[in-house]
Amino acid sequence: MEEVFYHEPVLLNESIGYLLGTGQKDLNSNTSSKRVYVDCTLGGGGYTKKILTETGSEGTLVLAIDRDVFAIEHSKKVLSDLADRIIFIQGNFGDIAEIILNAGFNKVDGVVMDLGLSTYQLNSEEGFSYQKDTALDMRADKNQRLTAADILNNYSKEELSNLFFKYGELRYSRQIALDISEFRKTKKLETTFELVDILKKKVPPRFLNSDLSRLFQALRIEVNNEMENLERVLKDSAEMLNENGKIAAVSYHSLEDRIVKQAFRNTASLKVLTKKPVEATEEEIKNNVRARSAKLRVAEKVTEISINKNKYRRGN
Ligand SMILES: C[S@@+](CC[C@H](N)C(=O)[O-])C[C@H]1O[C@@H](n2cnc3c(N)ncnc32)[C@H](O)[C@@H]1O
Repeated sequence: MEEVFYHEPVLLNESIGYLLGTGQKDLNSNTSSKRVYVDCTLGGGGYTKKILTETGSEGTLVLAIDRDVFAIEHSKKVLSDLADRIIFIQGNFGDIAEIILNAGFNKVDGVVMDLGLSTYQLNSEEGFSYQKDTALDMRADKNQRLTAADILNNYSKEELSNLFFKYGELRYSRQIALDISEFRKTKKLETTFELVDILKKKVPPRFLNSDLSRLFQALRIEVNNEMENLERVLKDSAEMLNENGKIAAVSYHSLEDRIVKQAFRNTASLKVLTKKPVEATEEEIKNNVRARSAKLRVAEKVTEISINKNKYRRGN
């Protein structure tokens, strides 16, 4: 049976409110004038739709990027009414500068990214969930060659251990890597449940779910080169923004949040607008468990004069 694409957007009003520069309070105010926004993570199309319905101006355009062809196909269908104001791009947001230039623009007015996986990917694409027995794939872009199985079968014990520690902050990283290398002496690791069984033998039941999440997270980050792409998109977005343009980034785990926070702080042309990250309300978390770990950070591109002032302030 064909799975239905499903994703409930997280921190939608907050992130798009900041992006459009309208704050949370008066999201409906008129922000007409020709503007170009980039939605780096189209997914189910929730953010792109909100940008276009809130601006309501014919001139507003969204460059809507996703690596995942299913996200692009689904969004083309559900956003068909708004299609004349969307440029759909199947690609890697790490290439944002090239994508913007190829679309015919030199600068944009805002960039938003809602990191991680869509609910559809987690539930229906192979390898992402430890609750389903599927092939160890985990590629967001199926044109890519490297899969999670390749990593598990070919990385050395030390490389695996480092990976689990660095991207999963996993207890027992070394032991799990050792058990994987023992397993593959007799047979290649092929399925998610084979990996789950290896972990089950080492981890006490009360830690099992959180350690499985960490292990799968680490592999997913490595397969999709997530940290490097995030660093690139943050750096290049700052370059590609018009003055007063905003970058809004929603992240779901501490490694990503740290990268966003540091990139905003360390980029001279950016002024941080969220001293503390914005988190979901209890109401949102009640309706959407994914919102529990979400953190939104926003920065604004500032002028040359403000950059100098910022530098001066930082020195204090
Ligand atoms: C959390 S979902 C976005 C949901 C979206 N905001 C919505 O409202 O439906 C994250 C999406 O980002 C995409 N993605 C992750 N890393 C990417 C990358 N490097 N380049 C492009 N898309 C990426 C995933 O394929 C996924 O569809």
